[in-house]
Amino acid sequence: MAPGSAQLPGYRIRWMRPEDAEAASGLSQAVFDLPWTREHFVTELHRPLARAWVVEDTTTGEVVGFLVLWLVADQAEIATVAVAPDHRRRGLARALMDRALREACAQGARQVDLEVRADNQAALALYHSLGFQVTGRRRGYYYTPRGPTDALLMRRPCRASNGG
Ligand SMILES: CC(C)(COP(=O)(O)OP(=O)(O)OC[C@H]1O[C@@H](n2cnc3c(N)ncnc32)[C@H](O)[C@@H]1OP(=O)(O)O)[C@@H](O)C(=O)NCCC(=O)NCCS
Repeated sequence: MAPGSAQLPGYRIRWMRPEDAEAASGLSQAVFDLPWTREHFVTELHRPLARAWVVEDTTTGEVVGFLVLWLVADQAEIATVAVAPDHRRRGLARALMDRALREACAQGARQVDLEVRADNQAALALYHSLGFQVTGRRRGYYYTPRGPTDALLMRRPCRASNGG
């Protein structure tokens, strides 16, 4: 269990298992325009370079959040992260990110990268609060029914974390 989990009564963070893939996919479909499928999550669980966690509601056993991290040599990337709408603003995404940052830096990553829609205020606030800084912009990168939106590239060096 993540050290921070003691401050999240009613929840626990644990490694994702194959049987979580269906729930993770359902949540992904509920919150993303380009969601990951069940097969996508299962594939990630078999990739040696991927790490995946879920947040479990300990009362219901329901998966209410997930994060997938990719580790390639000294590079790390947050591939996807989400928390179910009814469980937001309780520190769950922060706890998932803390867990992933610790893992990435402990495994030798020099920094952790991610990509976020430029209009995703909640995610931007989360990442800024964790020390991520914008390193680039891909114009019109995301194309959704609402039209094209820029992607922001963000990075946090490991030396600033407790894992590096
Ligand atoms: C972004 C997301 C993962 C945040 O999950 P969460 O569990 O609600 O986040 P936390 O409770 O851990 O919030 C941590 C901090 O992030 C910031 N934050 C989170 N949601 C916010 C919001 N809606 N507005 C402003 N700031 C927000 C705040 O600084 C917050 O700290 P605070 O609550 O003490 O003010 C969640 O909104 C989500 O799943 N969104 C849809 C999927 C998504 O956009 N994923 C990221 C793709 S790059």
